[in-house]
Amino acid sequence: MVVSPENSFVHIAPDQLDEMQAERELSRLATLLSSANMAYYSLDAPHLSDAEYDLLKQRNSAIEAIFPHLKRDDSPSDKVGAPATDGFGKIKHAQAMLSLGNAFTDDDVFEFDNRVRKFLGLEATATLTYTAEPKIDGLSLSLRYEKGVLAQAATRGDGEVGENVLENARTIANIPHQISGAPSVFEVRGEVYMSAADFAALNQRQTETKGKTFANPRNAAAGSLRQLDASITKARPLRFFAYAWGELSAPFAQTQFAAIQALGEFGFETNPLTALLSNPSELIAHYKKIEELRATLGYDIDGVVYKVNDLELQRRLGFRSTTPRWAIAHKFPAELAWTYLNDIEIQVGRTGALSPVARLAPVTVGGVVVSNATLHNEDYIQGRDSSGAEIREGRDIRIGDWVQIYRAGDVIPKIKDVDLNRRDLSAKPYAFPETCPECGSPAIREEGDAVRRCTGGLICPAQAVERLKHFVSRGAFDIEGLGAKQVEQFYTDGWIATPADIFTLRERYGQGMQQLKNREGWGEKSAEKLFQAIDEKRKIPFRRVLFGLGIRHAGDSSAGLIATHYGTWDAMEQALTGAEIGQGAAWDDLLGIDGVGTVMATSLVSAFQNDNERAAIDRLISALDVEEVVTIAAADSPVAGKTVVFTGTLTKMSRAEAKARAESLGAKVAGSVSAKTDILVAGPGAGSKATKAEALGVLTIDEDAWLSMIEGL
Ligand code: IVH
Repeated sequence: MVVSPENSFVHIAPDQLDEMQAERELSRLATLLSSANMAYYSLDAPHLSDAEYDLLKQRNSAIEAIFPHLKRDDSPSDKVGAPATDGFGKIKHAQAMLSLGNAFTDDDVFEFDNRVRKFLGLEATATLTYTAEPKIDGLSLSLRYEKGVLAQAATRGDGEVGENVLENARTIANIPHQISGAPSVFEVRGEVYMSAADFAALNQRQTETKGKTFANPRNAAAGSLRQLDASITKARPLRFFAYAWGELSAPFAQTQFAAIQALGEFGFETNPLTALLSNPSELIAHYKKIEELRATLGYDIDGVVYKVNDLELQRRLGFRSTTPRWAIAHKFPAELAWTYLNDIEIQVGRTGALSPVARLAPVTVGGVVVSNATLHNEDYIQGRDSSGAEIREGRDIRIGDWVQIYRAGDVIPKIKDVDLNRRDLSAKPYAFPETCPECGSPAIREEGDAVRRCTGGLICPAQAVERLKHFVSRGAFDIEGLGAKQVEQFYTDGWIATPADIFTLRERYGQGMQQLKNREGWGEKSAEKLFQAIDEKRKIPFRRVLFGLGIRHAGDSSAGLIATHYGTWDAMEQALTGAEIGQGAAWDDLLGIDGVGTVMATSLVSAFQNDNERAAIDRLISALDVEEVVTIAAADSPVAGKTVVFTGTLTKMSRAEAKARAESLGAKVAGSVSAKTDILVAGPGAGSKATKAEALGVLTIDEDAWLSMIEGL
């Protein structure tokens, strides 16, 4: 992060800020939180995670507590939601729709109970009952019934003024249009939400029709309710849980619990997990129970709400500026969730690596619906890391387990832990497959490798298609008009199976262009262009061909080193065909290349000695004109006999490759600058060597100048 004078105290703890800094911090937080509110409530497109939002809000409150006189008129602590947007009519709530204070730890729950008792002047031993119910992750809605008829429906808006969504609310299946038994003016409040299954189906439909997809069920519910066209809302499967009320012409219950029961009798859906409990320990136990049930509920919840049961006590407790004193939301940790492991699937990558993936019962974690997590490799599943040490105290992971998942930043979700208490007695340790699920070839684990790999090579469809994509990628053949998408299409249709097939495409499908032309997305021009682009790549540098083969461990710069060493494809092919892994002259020669170690050497020799692979390679080479790496006689080289030193960062080639190239041109490459040095090639970040070279009057050039010096050689 760039530290500028404006934000240099962003990370200073509230109690370390001076007054000027505190004032600026409050201003920054007001802006940030207001735009986050707008994004979340009005645009249904949050840009902060709930956890980030809560942290900012807590920081704001902490600074206000220390510098109360700096509290702003537009303080985020006094705000709920965001102003109603244009487009809907506005409705002023007869009673404000408020928010809830948060508890994050067990201690916070005990403190809440203490505060309530203190306010009411109750002894620690006096009875005080609470209700506890899931906190539904949707958006709140206030429904007004007059003489039993649904007359008004309003979103929360900023808590004072909401949006009139009556038309839309009427389309929600479990919102009654008429009720009986309630007072003549009766405002019921609750949460509009979408079930996990309906959310998945909606996103699927939206994808198919190229419509907008939603990040999570809450956004989908909000986006669906706040449609100017009610027929769209009607097509979206929304539901409503009732849990509170606003204006009433007469009381209808004496306790929270009885009120929830009455709401049920009036015809509203209430949450079946609502419980009546008598102390903080029981509240926490209920919270844990609900947390365990979370993934099985079929809808998202983000905590448990505790409310003082006695409505007379609620009245006495009353409200702070935006939250009731008689209720609190005990939130689940934002980036963690327990869920059920439905299955373990094995994916096969380009190099044949078998990667296990956890298929999970979907849960929303940190605002994103998670249904897959990486399981890394078989050791990880068994509870061991790459060095054999225990992870999760050695607990293994089995299909059917309850697992705790987490998201760190934007990375793929991971499994943090497994709950052995909830493991089914019949669950068996996961047996990692020893054959490839794609092609049935044996999958083996080499010594020192954490990963099991399919030995099928090009006969394995998973590897074949990934390899083809690699083959046409930028550093390799880079054929214009033939990208990953086209390769996949041609592979699926059986037009190409190995790289060599690309070079016979014209022969097989080009007659009069009919076949290719008839395909979706291809016209005569584009077909001819593709064939031309392919032909242009028949004559191609050695290193690109070697890199394009996608042999494990042989990356772009290694391919360059090897090409420079052998000079011609034939020379390399002969050497690799004749080499014996671990011994002999050919092996030693291969290992002698700077930058080639035993792992890469083994991989290269194996590829050239495996029958399937070799046949595919030979077929490809016979379609190509592989360019020789020209090594010129030392006498013709401007750097022959010169001593060269490389320093700093090189961007066009690796240090090893630069060294090999210089040596092939007859230069001597040294590690340090001395009076004998002729040329210092200095990239960015060059330090003492550059200073020394300057002092000694050594010619110092940058990487580009060096490349143009040896250009064409
Ligand atoms: S009671 C005066 N109960 O959470 C407070 N709210 O963070 C009345 N929510 O605005 C709210 N489930 O949208 C209550 N069982 C529940 C809830 C619940 C979800 C939402 C509601 C509220 C927000 C506060």
